[in-house]
Amino acid sequence: MINIAIDGHVGSGKSTLARGLAQKLGFHVLDTGAIYRGFACAFRDRRSQNIDEQMIENFVKDIKVDIFFEGDLQHVVINGKDYTKHLREEEISVLSSKISPFPVLREKVRLIQRDFADKYNCVMEGRDIGSVVLPNADIKFFVTASEEVRAKRRFEQNKDKSLTFNEILKDLRERDYRDEHRKVAPLKPADDAIILDNSNMTLEQSIDFCLKCMAKKGLKI
Ligand code: DC
Repeated sequence: MINIAIDGHVGSGKSTLARGLAQKLGFHVLDTGAIYRGFACAFRDRRSQNIDEQMIENFVKDIKVDIFFEGDLQHVVINGKDYTKHLREEEISVLSSKISPFPVLREKVRLIQRDFADKYNCVMEGRDIGSVVLPNADIKFFVTASEEVRAKRRFEQNKDKSLTFNEILKDLRERDYRDEHRKVAPLKPADDAIILDNSNMTLEQSIDFCLKCMAKKGLKI
C-alpha cells in the first residue's frame, strides 16, 4: 500500500490538501482528528466529572471503533453508536484536546490508524502521522503558512464573524503552542518530512507541489 503522511499547523489547510490530493490519486483519506473527536463523544456519554489516567485506561479497554465512508464523509462509530454529526461541536473540540495526550488512548488510536494504512492506499492527515504513526510512510509532508495567513483563512471561514481577526490570531497562537509543547507526540516535522509553506499558494498549486515531490521520489501511481 502507498501511504502519504500530512501533518501541519492549525489553519494550514492540511485537511483540504489531504482531501484534494487523495481525490487526484484515487486514494482514501483519513482524518485522524475525527477519531480523537469520536473518542471524546463516547467519553462525554460516560458523564465522568474528571479525567485521570485510570479512568481513560478503563474507558479505552472496552472500546470498539469502526470507520466507514459515505462519499467524502468519514463516519466514526464507537461501540455501535455513530457520532459523526457531533464531531465538530465546540465541547468536543475542547474535550478531544484534553483526552488526546493520554498515551493509552493514543496507542489505541495509533493501532486503528496503522490498520487503515495497511489496508488502503491513503493520505493520512494529523499531527504526529509522519513522526509517530507512520514512520515508514512513502512520503511525508509538513504543511504550514504564516500566522497571519492562517488567521486570515480562519477569519474568512468564520461566516458569522463572531470572532475578530485578533481573537482568531490569539487563539491560533495558543493552539500552536499547546500542540508544539505537549509532552506526548508534540507537533513537529518528521526528520524526513518535506516542508510545504503554502502562504502564497492556491490549493491547486499545493496539490501540484505534492504530486511533483512524489514523482521525484519515483512514486508511480
Ligand atoms: O485536527 P482536529 O482539530 O480535528 O483534532 C482534534 C484533537 O485531536 C486535537 O485537540 C488534537 C488531537 N489530535 C492529535 O492529538 N493527534 C492527531 N493525529 C490528530 C488530532
